[in-house]
Amino acid sequence: MSTPTPGTSITVFLNGRPIQTVEGRTILQVAREHGVHIPTLCFHEGLAPYGACRLCMVEIVRGQSRQLVASCTHPCVDGLVVLTDTPAVQRSRRITAELLLATARHVPAIRELAAQLGAGEPRFTLPEDACILCGLCVRACAEIVGVRAISLVNRGAEKRVSPPFRIASNDCIRCGTCVLVCPTGALTLADIAGPPTTRHRSESQYEAPACQLCGQAWNDLPTGTGRSQQAVQAQTGSGAR
Ligand code: SF4
Ligand code: FES
Repeated sequence: MSTPTPGTSITVFLNGRPIQTVEGRTILQVAREHGVHIPTLCFHEGLAPYGACRLCMVEIVRGQSRQLVASCTHPCVDGLVVLTDTPAVQRSRRITAELLLATARHVPAIRELAAQLGAGEPRFTLPEDACILCGLCVRACAEIVGVRAISLVNRGAEKRVSPPFRIASNDCIRCGTCVLVCPTGALTLADIAGPPTTRHRSESQYEAPACQLCGQAWNDLPTGTGRSQQAVQAQTGSGAR
């Protein structure tokens, strides 16, 4: 395969439909631009794609072979053939939703997503945790706020969101962007402004509740409003989920 040249005009075939685009755009971007729905969880249009949740899988076809790829990270090249709703795609998404349900069944957004994708009763038993390790909070802190106060630490079952060394970060400006962008509500204001908690993997232990940008305390701001959300919207062109 030749080296992709971002910006070069190309044609891709999305569910059999020829579409003009430019090399370097992802399959997900092109699908959304043309009204083709692909479910996502770890994707946010204002942040670099991460490819963690695997909900956005689609099939690409090369001759007789087919391959499942994550549409949020897979770049378009000339002649790419993409199928977004095949039995293999549906099965992959159902299994992913089932895994999410096994760990975060208590999260309404996850239950809704699983129902939409036709996921049945989970066949797995996993520890309950609202954090699905999508990394949105970590990327928002680094890319929108420019702080890197939290990160994903450890591996495998021990992987979690945490400030360095699990102690309050002096770098945190208490803006709350991580809370706003979290799709499951795993990070709460109490986690940030209150005492340390081990209720779930998000072990934020920040104590000072006042935002260093606007001076307001998080407790004074109704959830979903305030300067931080405006900042997210300004940066991303959309509201945080
Ligand atoms: S705390 Fe929320 S945003 Fe952060 S990784 Fe977990 S689910 Fe994603
Ligand atoms: S949205 Fe593509 S892997 Fe999560």
